Amino acid sequence: MSLKKYFRKKPLESYKNDLQNSELKRVLGKWELTAIGIGAVIGGGIFVLTGVASNLYAGPALTISFILAGIGCLFAGLCYAEFASILPVSGSAYAYSYGTIGEFFAWFIGWNLILEYLMGATTVAVSWSKYFIKLLHLFNIDNIPVWLLNDPVSAREEAILKDIIAPAFSINLPAMLILWVVTYILIKGIKESAKTNNLIVTIKVLAVLFVIIVGAFYIKESNWQPYIPEKIIDKSGESHYGISGVLTAAGIVFFAFIGFDAVSTQSQEAINPTKDIPFAIIVSLICCTLLYVLVSLVLTGMVNYKNLDLGAPVASAFNEVGLRWASGLIIIAAVVGLISVMLVMLLSQTRIFLNMAKDGLLPQKYFAAIHPTYKTPWKSTLLVGSAASVVAALTPIEKASKMTSIGTLFAFAMICAAVLVLRKKQPDLHRPFKLKNLTLIASSGIIFNIILMFSLDKATWLRLLVWSIIGIIIYFAYSAKHSHLNKKNS
Ligand code: ALA
Repeated sequence: MSLKKYFRKKPLESYKNDLQNSELKRVLGKWELTAIGIGAVIGGGIFVLTGVASNLYAGPALTISFILAGIGCLFAGLCYAEFASILPVSGSAYAYSYGTIGEFFAWFIGWNLILEYLMGATTVAVSWSKYFIKLLHLFNIDNIPVWLLNDPVSAREEAILKDIIAPAFSINLPAMLILWVVTYILIKGIKESAKTNNLIVTIKVLAVLFVIIVGAFYIKESNWQPYIPEKIIDKSGESHYGISGVLTAAGIVFFAFIGFDAVSTQSQEAINPTKDIPFAIIVSLICCTLLYVLVSLVLTGMVNYKNLDLGAPVASAFNEVGLRWASGLIIIAAVVGLISVMLVMLLSQTRIFLNMAKDGLLPQKYFAAIHPTYKTPWKSTLLVGSAASVVAALTPIEKASKMTSIGTLFAFAMICAAVLVLRKKQPDLHRPFKLKNLTLIASSGIIFNIILMFSLDKATWLRLLVWSIIGIIIYFAYSAKHSHLNKKNS
């Protein structure tokens, strides 16, 4: 058997046919696409993970972590933009690589995108639950038992903290339920989604600006000292603070940037995809990086990093400086705003599965089944929503977010490599968005993203390894055999 078949490419012609036969209306302009990008990006990363990243790893140097993660994303974002301009289809990096690099590589990218989107939605759901619990407190509902609000690991930690007996069984019910709500919305189809999205994005961006402007008045410079706390190694051998801590924090807050690539899944609805998708990717990334750097400066200036809350750090910081009303507003904005991130993440996941199923790499019966009334890929959505909700109910946020980050970093590094390979192999391909210094940008992207991967702990690496092996087994056991290209060539 020839190895060549694993490198077969989907003919570009068939993408053109897909585009011509698309029933989706082209209604999204460049600013709507940018809003979709920002809507998918601002979420649990900035509202929740800043607490863990600063308190446990970077201290006030969280700002540097955000800058490092932002640079890594910008390189990947630029490569994504060139890729998206060549093939403006909705399957994101999976589809681009299938048309250009080859089937196995495409499958492997698609497999890692599951970590980005499905695991990403899971992490956001857990983040959402932290703010939801704060919202309940606002209404004086604080007698819900620990075992209904936490995954088993966090429940044990909470029990120790509260000096109560650890529950034998525990689930994060709010995180689980919100994913069911999101799944339901996605199955019914989102009407007027661009308008709703614009509203939610406006609320979120206003909340972030509010944090920056109002919070700036409460900064105490002493909170920024020492800027990079001295390195400590804990009992399990993991290091905190110091330069390595700042890097680990960068790997964690990298999560906050994930989602800009979701813009590319909207290609078939864009008025001018070859130009506007690259624009939206880059502009949304730059806006979010600026906002994040400012928020992290303000947050670490308002409260000493050791006192930053691990659950809802932004709202808690305002509470701590005595602005209870502001904390309430932030809680409401986060509870509303994070829903749009989950929607985009799960939607993107089902779109990618749909593309993979149409190519024969996943069972069409499940992943390409369209609901007769709602016209949505309902079985796939149900499957994705159920998987995400079970994981969200049982996984601590730190583990979920690191897993999302490592998978996405890996996918981004592969995308940078793929764009570079493509430029060398097919230099004359029409590229409406063509990077000038691609070799430099793509190589820096690969290096940066791999460095950030190495900043994450061994357990996360081990999980990635297991995940990759499962992916490779499924490819050889199922996908390579059922690929439609296989049938055409045989
Ligand atoms: N970037 C998205 C968030 O922070 C995934 O929630």
